[in-house]
Amino acid sequence: MNSTMQTDPLKPGYDFNAHLVAGLTPIEKGGDLDFTIDRPNGMKGFIINLTVKGQGTVFHGDDVFEVQEGDLLLFPTGVPHYYHRSEQTEEWHHRWIYFRPRAYWNNRLKWEECINGVFITKGVQIDDQEKLNQLFLQIEALSKVEEPYVDELSLNLLEQILIRCKMNQPNLIKKRVDPRITEVVNYMAKHLNEDFSNEQLAELICLSPSRLGHLFRDEIGMTITQWRDDQRISRAKQLLVTSNYSINQISRLIGYSDPLYFSRVFKNKAGLSPKLYREKVM
Ligand code: FCB
Repeated sequence: MNSTMQTDPLKPGYDFNAHLVAGLTPIEKGGDLDFTIDRPNGMKGFIINLTVKGQGTVFHGDDVFEVQEGDLLLFPTGVPHYYHRSEQTEEWHHRWIYFRPRAYWNNRLKWEECINGVFITKGVQIDDQEKLNQLFLQIEALSKVEEPYVDELSLNLLEQILIRCKMNQPNLIKKRVDPRITEVVNYMAKHLNEDFSNEQLAELICLSPSRLGHLFRDEIGMTITQWRDDQRISRAKQLLVTSNYSINQISRLIGYSDPLYFSRVFKNKAGLSPKLYREKVM
């Protein structure tokens, strides 16, 4: 490891190459964290940010806005980061989580208010503010533990955060997923290891394959293949850490007849090969 590498994620120069990093940044006027976080090209992952004390200022010029206790920010990949303690307060404490989202989160990662690519949720109900704070704290605690499944647990808690944020959108219409899509999703979950085609799925619910494709995308926010691959890869991760099956066997068990294709999809979704994943978490 390079000895000049920054090991503190609160300081510039830290390499956020991991899947999930979480922390609290307690900025006090004049303190050593009292600088502007300025990443003009954004980051490779997403950041969700919760103000727990004081006030922060995001962006400058025409795009400038303030965040206060209970407000949340969501920075998608590549969106510029520019924020600091507000001149109007002595402190700005914010919790944050850096993550690579699961594919099926697409529509959870869009909020109604957006400035310069950053999503904003304000006016969160007091009860929910406390629940969100607890979820952030649990993820922060988990991000310090190295054990199999901590990533899964953290992503599960993070999903709860994203659902609560959705529930706090101002124009929320409590919309249920189309029952035909629920049927397709349930079918795929039960038959993940089988090689079903979109035509077969469409037949199940008496729609044409192209109508099913559109409806699926509208309701779930991704294609059928993305959804299926996402589920298969989560199952592969479990098998990699809990079984002694070879990678070829796992590939077959989760429905990929071609292990090379499996490794490619795995690497694409998990950021590393199945072999390295197994070595890293065992
Ligand atoms: C820290 C910042 C925090 C967040 C993480 C990724 O240095 O204080 O707001 O941006 O980096």
